[in-house]
Amino acid sequence: MSGTTQAVQEAVLALRHVGKRFEVDGRPLQVLHDLNLEVAEGEFTVIVGASGCGKSTLLRLLAGLDAAYDGEISVDGRAVRDVGRERGIIFQEHRLFPWLTVADNVALGLAAEAPPAAQVHERVAAMIALVGLQGFERALPHQLSGGMAQRVALARGLIADPRILLLDEPFGALDALTRHQMQDELLAIRERRRTTMLLVTHDVEEAIVLADRIVVLAPRPGRIRRIIDVDLPHPRRRGSYRFHSAREALMEELLLDENAAGEPRRKAAEEIPLQHLQYLW
Ligand SMILES: Nc1ncnc2c1ncn2[C@@H]1O[C@H](COP(=O)(O)OP(=O)(O)OP(=O)(O)O)[C@@H](O)[C@H]1O
Ligand SMILES: [Mg+2]
Repeated sequence: MSGTTQAVQEAVLALRHVGKRFEVDGRPLQVLHDLNLEVAEGEFTVIVGASGCGKSTLLRLLAGLDAAYDGEISVDGRAVRDVGRERGIIFQEHRLFPWLTVADNVALGLAAEAPPAAQVHERVAAMIALVGLQGFERALPHQLSGGMAQRVALARGLIADPRILLLDEPFGALDALTRHQMQDELLAIRERRRTTMLLVTHDVEEAIVLADRIVVLAPRPGRIRRIIDVDLPHPRRRGSYRFHSAREALMEELLLDENAAGEPRRKAAEEIPLQHLQYLW
């Protein structure tokens, strides 16, 4: 990792001075502050940072699901204020429709494109095979495990073949083997289709396996602390010395948050006698 923040040519996605404020309990909460980033076509950007630092909020802005932000977000130079077919998002929770079958949930990813029925059938079948869910086409979401539901959501996000794919911890509920397979598959998709990917993860190893660049966010408010180039060749060997060094370096970067003098941590609920709970809020 070289640790540079060089400008990227041919930016497909650009953020300039992006900020986001919410109102919580009548008071403003600055969640994101002055984010500046350029992402090149086909680039794989991984976003890491402490829980609550604004990663999901950022992906929602990029997807166009929330137009109330400061600064500028643009795709191909056009301001993002709404959802668009060139951008797809896979949410942190699977958000499947409980009354629809696996196949219909996946087919929903094609709603905007509305191709002929035969093509829908073919593409849904191919996606279900890709995520290893053959035989479950007619199952309902409550009949699936958490990891299976997450794979359905992945299939729904991938099927429309967006130019920019936003992924919010997409592999969190998967077992290690499936997780590795899906990481390889994402890289293959990126290679085949030149999809620009922005993926949020808490998994340091996953960040090193996937990223061209890792954006490390610092919390409260969420801001870019560092952008790390990962210049290891593909396929990346997890056991190699260079992989190990990159992982250690990223780990150290993340631990800066833990060690920073912040506000005192609230006691874990189990440490608090029940009779005191009424004073907590
Ligand atoms: N709709 C909302 N209204 C008010 N505050 C919100 C809203 N959505 C998010 N927040 C606040 O914004 C901050 C960032 O939330 P966000 O979900 O983006 O974090 P995150 O980095 O994705 O965390 P995690 O890693 O736990 O998923 C949190 O303090 C959260 O309480
Ligand atoms: Mg989140």
